[in-house]
Amino acid sequence: MATLADSRPAFTRLPHPAPVADEVRAEVLANPGFGSRFTDHMVTIEWSEEAGWHGATVAPYGPIALDPAASVLHYAQEIFEGLKAYRHPDGSMALFRPEANAARFNASAKRLAMPELPEALFIAAIEELVRADAGWFPTVEGGSLYLRPFMIATEAFLGVRPAKAYKFIVIASPAGNYFKSGAPAVSIWVSDYTRAAPGGTGAAKCGGNYAASLVPTAEAFAKGHDQVLFLDATEHRWIEELGGMNLFFAFADGSLLTPPLTGTILPGITRDSLITLAREEGLIVREERYALDQWRSDAASGQLVEAFACGTAAVVTPVGKVAGPDGDFTIGSGGPGQLTGKLKARLTAIQRGEEPDSHGWVHRIG
Ligand code: PLP
Ligand code: COI
Repeated sequence: MATLADSRPAFTRLPHPAPVADEVRAEVLANPGFGSRFTDHMVTIEWSEEAGWHGATVAPYGPIALDPAASVLHYAQEIFEGLKAYRHPDGSMALFRPEANAARFNASAKRLAMPELPEALFIAAIEELVRADAGWFPTVEGGSLYLRPFMIATEAFLGVRPAKAYKFIVIASPAGNYFKSGAPAVSIWVSDYTRAAPGGTGAAKCGGNYAASLVPTAEAFAKGHDQVLFLDATEHRWIEELGGMNLFFAFADGSLLTPPLTGTILPGITRDSLITLAREEGLIVREERYALDQWRSDAASGQLVEAFACGTAAVVTPVGKVAGPDGDFTIGSGGPGQLTGKLKARLTAIQRGEEPDSHGWVHRIG
C-alpha cells in the first residue's frame, strides 16, 4: 500500500466554514503576545502499524477526540517542535531552518520510541498550514507566525510499551515577544531542581521535560524572575540551560562560550545558528562546560561582559541578573550588551529576509 512516506504528500483540505472575523484577527495580530491565540486551521496526519503515515488533512482548528486510555495521557509519549514563519519585505513567506526541526523531531521520536516522520512530510505539513493561514502574520514589529508541530500516542492501551497508533498535528499561533515584562534584559533564577540527567531525555523535545520544569519555573516567577536556570544533575555545578532556551556567555577577550551538547540539553537551532554567525564575526566560540561559581567570579572581575539566552520563542534575550540560593549577581551593566545586540540583529535580519541568506537557512514557502 502506498503511504505518505513514499508518495508525494497529498493533503485533504477542509477550509474553515467560519474563520475568525477580520476585525478580531486584526486585533490579535496587532498585539499577539505569545501562545494564547491560534489560527483558523490545523494539520493532522495519522500513523498506524498497518498503514504507516496516512490521512493528511488541513481542517478547522479545534478540539481532538482521544480515547481516555490513549497512551499519551498515561505515559506521556509526546514530542513537539517550535519554529517560526516570517513575512519577508517582498511579501513572500519563509521558514527558518525547518529541516533542522524535522531532524530534531525525528531524534526526539527515536528517544520516545515513536515512529519517525519523513522530513519532506514534516515540512509539507507546516507549509500547508502556513498557506492556509497566510492572513495570520502579526503586524507588530518583530512578529512572526509560531508553528507548533507535535506527535502524540493515541492507542488505547494501558500496558507499558510503545503505542501502535499516533497522531502528528501542527498548529500555528501569531507571536510577538515571548517575555511579557518587555524588559531589556531578563533575570534568571538558579534552581535546586535538575532538568535532565545523563542517559535521560534532556536532548529530546518531549513534553515530560517541560512538565518537570514547571515547579522550578513557578518558583522563579514567584521570586520575581523571568526564567529558570538548570545546573547539571551530577555535580550541580555546571551550567546547562534555561527552562526553554540555551545560554551563551561573552568574555572581555572577545570569545564566546556555550555549554556543550552532552545529551542533557536541547540542541537548539538558534544556538547552532549563532555559533556560525559569531564565528563569521571573527569570534572564538567554545563549546565548553562553565561552572556557576566561575560565572559569578568572572562577572565580578569583568572578565565576563555579557550573557544571553536564545531560542525560537525568545530569539536572543540578554540576561541581566542571576539569582540563586547563594545570592545575586549582575552581568555587565545589567542591560543589553553590544555583542548580544549585534548577533541578534544579524540573525533576525536573515530570518526576516532583510539580509541575504548565505547559509541556505531560509526556506521559502511557494
Ligand atoms: N532549550 C530548551 C529547553 C528549549 O525548549 C528550547 C526551545 O525550543 C531551546 C533550548 C532552544 O531551541 P531552538 O533554538 O531550537 O528553539
Ligand atoms: C521554543 O522556543 O520554540 C520553545 O519551544 C520554548 C518554549 C516556548 C517551550
